[in-house]
Amino acid sequence: MKLTLSVIKADIGGYVGHSDTHPEVVQEVKDFVGKEVEKGNLIYSDILTCGDDIAIVMTHTHGVDNETVHRIAWEAFERGTQVAKKLKLYGAGQDLLTDAFSGNIKGLGPGVAEMEFEERPSEPVVIFFADKTSPSAWNLPLYEMFADPMSTAGLVIDPKMHDGFTFEVLDLYTGKAVKINTPAEVYDLLALIGSVGKYVVKNVYRNYDGEIAATASTQRLSLIAGQYVGKDDPVMIVRSQSGFPAIGEILEPFAKPWIVEGWMRGSHNGPLMPVSFEDARPSRFDGPPRVIAAGYQIAEGKLIGPSDLFKDPAFDKARSVAQEMADMLRRQGIFEPHRLPTEEMEYTSLPKILKKLENRFYDTEEERPEKDKITEKEDMD
Ligand code: 13P
Ligand code: 13P
Ligand code: MG
Ligand code: MG
Repeated sequence: MKLTLSVIKADIGGYVGHSDTHPEVVQEVKDFVGKEVEKGNLIYSDILTCGDDIAIVMTHTHGVDNETVHRIAWEAFERGTQVAKKLKLYGAGQDLLTDAFSGNIKGLGPGVAEMEFEERPSEPVVIFFADKTSPSAWNLPLYEMFADPMSTAGLVIDPKMHDGFTFEVLDLYTGKAVKINTPAEVYDLLALIGSVGKYVVKNVYRNYDGEIAATASTQRLSLIAGQYVGKDDPVMIVRSQSGFPAIGEILEPFAKPWIVEGWMRGSHNGPLMPVSFEDARPSRFDGPPRVIAAGYQIAEGKLIGPSDLFKDPAFDKARSVAQEMADMLRRQGIFEPHRLPTEEMEYTSLPKILKKLENRFYDTEEERPEKDKITEKEDMD
């Protein structure tokens, strides 16, 4: 019997501002999904929160992109939004970009990560959930987990991992995807996924037998809505042990914080800080961006857990380094590279400001780059 693990997340109202969720909203979502388990539409469910976002974790046998499952998540978020509206929480219903559910929750605002697999004799999984960032935040750790033997020793040691993994990379602007086989094509992979504004890793498959190893939500709210409505705050599922990276190998990339986009107004870069569930309440400059790791053992579809995997003093150093990095970036204020580059600001206030100044720009005698001169230099290193 194939099991499906679905994680669907949304920001349906912040308490206070964009920092946290409100317990009454979370309870409403939890109760609604719990009733669907009782009705037999789902095997099991759990709720995770990170910052102002709520993730519904569900197991079932309906496969990915299933209408019933997506509808359950949508209606649960609608119910939660009603409570958020009553409490006048900030941005109540923020990520529900439409009034009507139309069969598949993708494209309607919430983030979706789902995978279908045959449950192994022991099936450990980790669900990562981040706030104040975007799906490309997973690019670097997924590379380290599944393609860097200096981070994941199993790539060398475990015979089932020795053939490497295939990354499915999505171009966010065209909707096209490409499968890249590592280790053979690892430099091609890095050439793409280093462009965090354009390419994101959607799925990772084990080359040994094609088994799904990881999947991430890749929905970009601003690209769906055509304007800035909030950051995408992604989720990701990673399978662990016996032919997949060990739990410690999956967590290891997070021991060295790196910089992701999505801090303050979705318009700034900041370090991704691994935190316990308790500490996933970003408040300093609405951040810095946070990530939690929820570990589960799956038993006949039942979610045994979660185990709060970053609640380990061994990640204290990462948290402290992240704070140092945060200070360095904050020094830049509204200047790049703290503020996102121009092309990433196109969905915020920048077009409006440029429009306002449009008629005030005038020609000058300053030299402009000439096209033919640039072509001549092309061959130079
Ligand atoms: P134990 O010996 O504690 O089971 O650990 C095995 C292992 O592979 C840890 O990475
Ligand atoms: P969220 O995407 O988490 O709602 O944050 C939006 C924001 O503007 C934070 O400053
Ligand atoms: Mg919010
Ligand atoms: Mg959020």
